[in-house]
Amino acid sequence: MIRVLFICLGNICRSPAAEGAFAHLVKKSGLEKQINVDSAGTSDYHIGEKSDSRMRKHAAKRGIHLTHRARQFVKKDFENFDYIIAMDHNNYQDILTVSDQIEHHNKVYMMSDFKIKCHEIEVPDPYYEGPECFERVLDIVTDSSQGLLDKITKELIS
Ligand code: 4NP
Repeated sequence: MIRVLFICLGNICRSPAAEGAFAHLVKKSGLEKQINVDSAGTSDYHIGEKSDSRMRKHAAKRGIHLTHRARQFVKKDFENFDYIIAMDHNNYQDILTVSDQIEHHNKVYMMSDFKIKCHEIEVPDPYYEGPECFERVLDIVTDSSQGLLDKITKELIS
C-alpha cells in the first residue's frame, strides 16, 4: 500500500481538489486497493468544514465529487504517509517545521515535482480569485496527479 497526503493552507480548496483528482485517476486505473489518498491543511482555519463550494462545483463538472472534511496536518502524518505533497512553497516550509527528522523531510514533495505538461511551480491559491483560477487549479492538480500516478505505478510493479 502506498499512502499519499496532499497539503495546502486551508484544506478546503487546493489539497482536496488534488485528493479528488488523484483518487479519480487511481480509481480509473483500478488501483484503489493499493493506493490510499488523503489531504490536510497546515492551518487550523477550516477544521471540520466541507471543501469550498466553488471548488466543489468546478470539480463536479469534471466528475470529481469532493466529500473531504478539512483537518490539520499533524506530526503523526509523517509516519502514516509515504508521499506528503505541498501545493506551494509556504506549505512546503510549514510541513518541514513540524518535524526535525530527515527521514520525515525526505517524504515531502512539491506538487510540481510530478507535473507533465503544466509549467507552474506552485498551485495558485484560488481563495480570493475568480472561477478561472479554480479551473486552472483543477488543470494543474490533474496534470501532476497523472505524473504522480505514473511514478507510483512503476514503483508498484518493480
Ligand atoms: P486552500 O485555500 O489553502 O487551497 O484551502 C485557502 C483557503 C482558506 C484560506 C486561504 C487559502 N483562508 O485564509 O481562510
